[in-house]
Parts: sequence; C-alpha cells; structure tokens
Amino acid sequence: DDLYRIARGVDYGWIIDKDQSFAVRSERIGVHDFTSMDVSRVVGQAAIDSYQEAYRTRLKVDLDEPDVEIYALVRDDEFVLGVNTTGRSLHKRGYRVYEHPAALKPTIASAMLEIAEWPDGEGLIDPMCGGATIPIEAAFKAYNIPPNHLRRDFAFLRLKCFAKEEFEEIRENLLAEAKTCCSLKIFGMEKYAHHLRGGIRNAEKADVLRAIKFIQGDATIPEDYPKETLTHVVVNPPYGIRMIPSGSPKKLYVGLVKALKKVVQIGTLVLISGAYKRFEEAASECSLEITETRMVSHGDLRAKIYKCKI
Ligand SMILES: C[S@@+](CC[C@H](N)C(=O)[O-])C[C@H]1O[C@@H](n2cnc3c(N)ncnc32)[C@H](O)[C@@H]1O
Repeated sequence: DDLYRIARGVDYGWIIDKDQSFAVRSERIGVHDFTSMDVSRVVGQAAIDSYQEAYRTRLKVDLDEPDVEIYALVRDDEFVLGVNTTGRSLHKRGYRVYEHPAALKPTIASAMLEIAEWPDGEGLIDPMCGGATIPIEAAFKAYNIPPNHLRRDFAFLRLKCFAKEEFEEIRENLLAEAKTCCSLKIFGMEKYAHHLRGGIRNAEKADVLRAIKFIQGDATIPEDYPKETLTHVVVNPPYGIRMIPSGSPKKLYVGLVKALKKVVQIGTLVLISGAYKRFEEAASECSLEITETRMVSHGDLRAKIYKCKI
C-alpha cells in the first residue's frame, strides 16, 4: 500500500510523453513478504493511474523495449524511485569490432590508467594488448576524447524533459575540444598476429589508430620492446591456463617482470590479474615493489589491480 501511495503521488508527465511506452525494473534487498515482481507490478499500476488522472492518457507498458525505464529499489524499509538515464552499460563503448576472447572492460582499463597517473607525453605500453582496450582508452585520454563518443543510444535521450538538440550541441563542443594530434607515445604489443590485427581494427573504429603504435612481439623478450623511453606500463596479462600456452601464469609473470625491469629504467606498472597468488609470487621473486592493490569484479571474476614501482 505504501509503495502504491508513494509511486502514485509522483508526476510522470515530465519524463514520459503520451505516446511513449514504459517499464518498471525493480530490485529488492532485505526481508519482505513480497517479491521484486510485486514491486514492479504495484509501481507500474501507480504510474499508469497517476498519468491517467493528470493527462487523460493510459500509458503503454512494454517490458522488452520500453522508451522509458523506471527503476524501483526497495532496500529494507527504504524505497527509491528513479529513472534510467544510461541505458546499456557504460563499458559498451561501441568500438569493439574485434571481440578478444579475454577482453578487459574499457571502464576498468580507464581506471587502471588513472591509477597509473600517466601524463600524456610520456611513453606508455601495454605489452600484452590483445584487442587494444588499454591503448585505445589511453588515446582517448591523451586526445581528450569523451570515451563514449561513438554512442548515440543513451537512455536520457528518450526522456521527455531532455532536449536532443542540446545533447548534439554539447557533444559537438566536446569533440571540438579534442586535440587533433598528440605525441605518438602509446604502444600496444601483442604476441599473436590475429589479436594484433583485431586490436588495430578496434583502434580504427575508435578513431584513434593514429595515436597508437602497434608492434608484434613477446612481452618476456626485452629486445621486442620499442626503443623509445617507456615510463608507464599498464597491462592485463592472461590469468588462466587456457590463455597461456606454457600453462604457468607464474612463469609468464616472472618473464614479464624481468623484461620490464630491463626495458623501463624508472617507472610505474599497473597490472590486473585474477591469479593473484601467482603474480605476488612473481613480484617477490623479482623484487618488484607493490605499492597499492585493489579488488575489482570483472564479470564473474574477482581480480586484483596492482600498482608497482619498477
Ligand atoms: C587477457 S588478454 C588481453 C586482453 C586485452 N586487455 C583486451 O581488452 O582485449 C592477454 C593477451 O596477452 C597475449 N599474450 C600472452 N602471452 C604473451 C606474451 N608473452 N607476449 C605478448 N603477448 C602475450 C595474449 O595473446 C592475449 O591477447
């Protein structure tokens, strides 16, 4: 009754237009004698009744592809009503024409670059770049390009209160502020040609191919690295047996750290791995100082981001 009363008291006219459809998505946390489906049903009915009374129109419900998504959260004795302004998750940037089998979420790649505190102009490498997520996100930062610039499907664009022309203007202004050139000091290295080709295709789609130098090489062989001065390494090495031909993540991590110690005189390494024990053993064996760690969820996996001093 409380949920209906509160949701019925809300004016939906400023977010939903008369000819638009809507759906309620609910989440329930805590112990209650109703389900989240009950919450959706009650809030949905309240929205229909409120709209009908205020605007003499019965709103259409579309559970599969609604124009507007209302979000209802019941957490213990709290009730939060909101509207989805994002739509698809923000990690879906729109540049992945090549799907690497162990791709990193671009949002995590971007956070790793922040952790690395990489200033544009200094040499940055991802020596196991796969589909090039890290170099692409680095190029967005270097060029000052909004990372979701390819997306046109934000949910807020369908809200009645939102002026689409204003969005286009803001978007154009932001893109106009992007730099047209930056120092070519972002490197993506990868051992396998098919992944490297995929990474190049992704960078092309993201419109930052000009900012990244791609190299085919082995991250455990110092001679394969570019000759330019490198100060920052941001990398997502394989975690599991399936992706590692030698079958041992520790051996690969030791090889990587030893090579980095030869190639980077003084610098910062930011690495993500789900095989934490193996990486920590490798770091200790190579006297690599870990200065910061944080846990992140990457899909179903729990992974750790390490910041290290080289
Ligand atoms: C977890 S994936 C990286 C995925 C990438 N971050 C992305 O978002 O697409 C690890 C990559 O390391 C590559 N790799 C494995 N051993 C390598 C080595 N010794 N040198 C360079 N690359 C290697 C694999 O081929 C794979 O593409």
